[in-house]
Amino acid sequence: MMKNVKLDIAKTGIEISADIEAKAQAANALLHSGKGAGNDFLGWVHLPSSISENEIDAIRKEAAKLRSKADVVVCIGIGGSYLGAKAVLEAMSDPFKLLHKEQKDPTVIFAGQNISEDYTAELLAALKEHSIAAIVISKSGTTTEPAIAFRLIKAEIEKRYGKKEAAERIVAITDKARGALKTLATQEGYPTFVIPDDVGGRFSVLTPVGLLPLAVAGVDIAALVRGAQEMEKATAEGVAFKENPAAVYAAVRNILYNGGKKIEILGSYEPKLQYINEWWKQLYGESEGKQGKGIFPASVTLTADLHSMGQYIQDGERTLFETIISVAKPAAEVLIEADGENLDGLNFLAGKRISEVNRMAELGVQLAHVDGGVPNIRIEIPEISESVIGGLLYFFEKACGISGYMLGVNPFDQPGVEAYKKNMFALLDKPGYEEASKAIKARL
Ligand code: PA5
Repeated sequence: MMKNVKLDIAKTGIEISADIEAKAQAANALLHSGKGAGNDFLGWVHLPSSISENEIDAIRKEAAKLRSKADVVVCIGIGGSYLGAKAVLEAMSDPFKLLHKEQKDPTVIFAGQNISEDYTAELLAALKEHSIAAIVISKSGTTTEPAIAFRLIKAEIEKRYGKKEAAERIVAITDKARGALKTLATQEGYPTFVIPDDVGGRFSVLTPVGLLPLAVAGVDIAALVRGAQEMEKATAEGVAFKENPAAVYAAVRNILYNGGKKIEILGSYEPKLQYINEWWKQLYGESEGKQGKGIFPASVTLTADLHSMGQYIQDGERTLFETIISVAKPAAEVLIEADGENLDGLNFLAGKRISEVNRMAELGVQLAHVDGGVPNIRIEIPEISESVIGGLLYFFEKACGISGYMLGVNPFDQPGVEAYKKNMFALLDKPGYEEASKAIKARL
């Protein structure tokens, strides 16, 4: 089995039958054959191995330009055009970076992932103190939230630096030909990167959508892609079932779901992985939650959430299972010191590393939850590094494709996300929505 993702399903108590094994292998083969549902969105399957050095170089070159011009780069996007970059950036960042006086990399911040007036006002106010640039990301080029944010950030950049310099400080990532953002980028002369037609938003982290903001932030994108390439090989068609962690994960989820476990909680004892959870929730929720089916993806960050969600997980409705991303080796070493007075009674921990306590918490929780009827899948990664995270992302993507096909849905569409947009546009009197506006307002 691939060393960067070790899957342990012993604590699910599940034996995978030959039938389920065959179904998982067939689902993987279907992905590779390109004959399954949603087969016009399978570009992600071979994305890691198809990214050329030239593409990485072009992304790095553009990132270097933005790095030289700005100390804050605003990355504008939502959903699949936001969460991948955010997840990897959080995983690879020192959470206390802003407290350090010396900043070696520009700060990448996010906008367009909400329509909050206060968030926008506070962002615009904070930007006044910095030299700024922007990356605007939208595959469709028509998504309302990032379009509103970009309008404001673009105006700020143009006001400060003029239109010509704005074209040096704004990069657009969008469809090769379609959408308002493409039209705007062409007209304004912005450097542009393309989101391939056959890669959906939630599978786009290894395209410029994820790679450009990450390169700007100083993340080693070549290592990220390398890790994903290794995982692409480790999960390819023809790999034996037991050697393919994506197939095994998909198979176990399928068995748990059919046995009544409708909610999967992804958790980790490393807070840096919190946004990996958020990225994963979109990946699985949007891919599988359709036709009245699908595991509901939830998440916790541990041990913090043991003090909020712990009671429910241990003792609430028994429709849950959990998947824990366990990091084998912390990057740092911090020892707990002995205290002469021992008023807190913690001297029994003196000399131990904090990670040892964290590990025992993890093992203790695992057994307690299993005893409480919550099956546990453990995904061990050796460390938090670019190549390991790249492998983890691809592992989850591949397992998601297999799992969706095993469930019998098209994992690559998202018809359900359109419903709210129609209502919102009708309520806002968008031209063309006149009839819908009347109808919806009558319901308020
Ligand atoms: O996965 C998806 O397709 C969605 O989450 C989209 O990424 C999200 O709606 C943003 O779309 P766009 O990139 O077209 O602005």
